[in-house]
Amino acid sequence: MKIFKKQDQLKLFLEESKKNIKSIGFVPTMGALHHGHLFLIEQAKKKNDLVVASIFVNPTQFNNQEDLDNYPKTLEKDIELLESVSCDVLFVPTVKEIYHENVVSDKFDFDGLENEMEGKFRAGHFNGVGTIVKTLFEIVTPNNAYFGEKDFQQLQIIKKLVVKNQLPISIKGCAIFRENDGLAMSSRNARLTTEQRNVAPLIYKVLKKVKKKFQEETFEEIAEWVENQFKNHPFLQLEYFTIADEKSLKSINIKEIDTKYRAFIAVFAGNIRLIDNIQLKN
Ligand code: PAF
Repeated sequence: MKIFKKQDQLKLFLEESKKNIKSIGFVPTMGALHHGHLFLIEQAKKKNDLVVASIFVNPTQFNNQEDLDNYPKTLEKDIELLESVSCDVLFVPTVKEIYHENVVSDKFDFDGLENEMEGKFRAGHFNGVGTIVKTLFEIVTPNNAYFGEKDFQQLQIIKKLVVKNQLPISIKGCAIFRENDGLAMSSRNARLTTEQRNVAPLIYKVLKKVKKKFQEETFEEIAEWVENQFKNHPFLQLEYFTIADEKSLKSINIKEIDTKYRAFIAVFAGNIRLIDNIQLKN
């Protein structure tokens, strides 16, 4: 695997490579890789001649300095993992290489997608995501880019970014990867204490039950039930739960035919924030 720290060198390499290949697949990450990331690389490998991954803990998408400072950093292990799935290229820029002296986000209008769910609780988060993803797309110029559905709102926002900026990139969403006990894989899981890790699968258990309840119960009844599951929980604190239209990400009051819905949840285990979601059947 070729490793680049400088964007100019990566660009030069990709320009040269493009003479002999048809497509570049791109998997942007913040490192602390898990099987979910490796699955994205494997999907990219199947459909592209060259696969580029990036590892960059993007400061502008963190609304909480402590979360940024504590974000797990495991570069050596990440490199081994990427090599194990035959990733071709890794881009690991410094903050200076991306932002120069000005570590701020651009402002984006994602037609309101940015104001729902995560947007309400993480001020400026999607401006940070938009800034870094657009910058990385400009450097890597991929044909296809791969993102996990755990961050479903991010996935929809990146699709919108591509449409609004007329970028010739196909955005591929990949199913959530879960641990055996159902906990959605996330780099932040590494920070959970044993006690928190033991109870965290409750999040997915609740979502699976919500999927069943969606057939018979109203949104208000389901939301109240979810709140009760976390009420007075010693280790888990519910931040939000909602059922939303997959396209607009707006919370629903009544179900409509021909609309796809998803349940979304954010839970704190101590100061570690875990999110998850599940597709619902109408
Ligand atoms: O999902 C992530 O890991 C990050 O938000 C991304 C897309 C790599 C941008 O920093």
